[in-house]
Formats: sequence, C-alpha cells, structure tokens
Amino acid sequence: MKIGILTSGGDAPGMNAALRAVVRTAVYHNIPIYGINNGYAGLLEKDIIPLTVYSVANIIQLGGTILRSSRSEFFQTVTGQKTATRILEEYGIDHLVVIGGDGSLKGAMALKELGVNVMGIPATIDNDFGASDFNIGFDTAVNTAIDAISKIRDTTYSHNRINVVQVMGRKCGDIALYAGFSVGAEIVIVPEVEYDFEDICNTLLRGKERGKMHNIVMLAEGRGSYRDYIVPIEERTRVTTRGTNLGYIQRGGSPSHYDRNIAGNMGYHAVEAIIKNQSGGVIVKRNGNYINMPLEEALEVPKVFNKDLYDKIRILSI
Ligand code: F6P
Repeated sequence: MKIGILTSGGDAPGMNAALRAVVRTAVYHNIPIYGINNGYAGLLEKDIIPLTVYSVANIIQLGGTILRSSRSEFFQTVTGQKTATRILEEYGIDHLVVIGGDGSLKGAMALKELGVNVMGIPATIDNDFGASDFNIGFDTAVNTAIDAISKIRDTTYSHNRINVVQVMGRKCGDIALYAGFSVGAEIVIVPEVEYDFEDICNTLLRGKERGKMHNIVMLAEGRGSYRDYIVPIEERTRVTTRGTNLGYIQRGGSPSHYDRNIAGNMGYHAVEAIIKNQSGGVIVKRNGNYINMPLEEALEVPKVFNKDLYDKIRILSI
C-alpha cells in the first residue's frame, strides 16, 4: 500500500493540521506516504515527494498549505483525469487523499470513477460542502472576520457612519452569517435570502431615529461588491457610508482550536478508512460524529442555510 496526498483549490487554515494527521497516522501504520505539490496540477507534472514524520513537524499551527495548492483547468478534462490516473499507477500510489472544497472533491470523484481509491477531507473557508456540519478553515476565517470587523466598528462608531463589509464565500453566505451574528451586525445580506433594499434602508433609518448612528452591514460576496451598495445606502439614509472588502486575510492565519480539532480527526479517520479497505468516501462531521460517507452521496447533500440564525440577527439588531 502507498498513499498520496494533495491539497487543492482555495487554501484554508487547518489544511496543514489535516496533512500532519494523515502523514502521522500512515507512518504509525508503516504505510509509505507521498506528498503531491500544487494540487492536481502538481500531480499532472509529477511533482511528487516522499513524506516522513519530520516533513510535517511544526506545521500544525501554520495557515496555508505546505504542499501548496492550485486550480487546474486541465485536470477538469477527461484527458487530464486519465493522465492523473496513469501517473498515480506509475508511482505505485494506490490510495489518494484529497484535502479541499467542493470542486476538489468533485475531482476526487472523477478519479474514483476511473478506479482510483480516493479519500476526501473537506477544507474550505466557504463552508459550502453541505455534507459536513463544518468544513476545515471556516471557523478560523470567521474569527479573522470578527477581529477585523471589531476594528471597523471602532471607527464606524467614532464617525457615526455605516460600513458595508464584504466577505468571501462564493455563493454561500455562511461567513457573512456567522461573522454577522458574532459582531452584532445590523444587516446581513446573503445569497440564500431574498432581500428588499427599501426594507434594509428602513431598518437603518429606524435605528437613526432612535439615535443609533453607527451600523455594520455584512455583505456576502455572492450578493455583489460593497461598491454597489455604498452610494444608494448613503443617498437613502443620509448617513455617511463607507465600505470594506476583507479579502484574502480571511484565507490566512493560524488555525483555530476548532479547525485543528476537526482537521486532526478527519485526517486520522481518512487513513483508518484506507486501512480498513473502505476508501471512496469523504470524512465528514455530522451531528458531532465523524462519518466516512461515500463521495457520490456526500456530493449530493445540499448545503442547508441556517435561516434560524439569520432570523435571530434581525431580532437582536433592532
Ligand atoms: O473558495 C475559497 C475562496 O476564497 C472564495 O471565498 C473566493 O470567492 C475564491 O476562493 C477566490 O478565489 P481565488 O483564490 O482564485 O481568487
């Protein structure tokens, strides 16, 4: 048996902790393990190196991914996937662990269909892989956003302004939702819930009438850029409005306790599944339990938006 491992797609804090757990569990069981640099692109370029216990020393606390990552267009073609399969055979790698988000796990599924033994570990700050309660990296990204928005609130308060804060997440509003709840945002705009611009402005105006002069509007990037909102909001409310795009700081930084915890557990369980000849799945956390769910099944689980939390924000921010 020989395991290969790669990280793919947008990096997420905790990827290194997951990598460490996979390598350490494999070494514990005397299974040779190889790191594939630069995700699927590196696999196609045969950028493959042996990993040891020492390769993953002192990385549990690091953001990013020491294996580095990429989004490969060629790998998304059938020719690319067949080439990748041949390269794995050439290197004698009979099991592949993929750490990444939805797109990366779809890539793992394509390899599974070509007969490769794959194991997935969900890692993306977007938290849009619905089969797992939480994906590695999301908790850290939310904490980073909270820290930044707390600073933005200081100056927003001092100047009696509105600040529209744009966060990442692609089509998923989870970063905006969870960070918005935790910073006491007045308004949260996410792709999952229809919104009415007048309604938003009326909420801000009601606050103004009561003497509330500073407001944080959380905007998920799936609802556009903060630049599209600041002028209309200022015109309608007559409150000076500024905007901030938190950008790539959300992807970096040392992983939180929660992300290290799920990363370590998922990495461990991925190798245990391989040893038990139960590959072909993704390790997910559901209702507190770690489950090896078949990839085809996991990829079909819809992402459920936490509407309950969203509704509470509206009540708590009156
Ligand atoms: O999927 C993670 C993510 O950070 C998204 O939130 C964001 O839309 C995208 O990646 C940015 O991608 P890139 O790193 O290619 O600019």
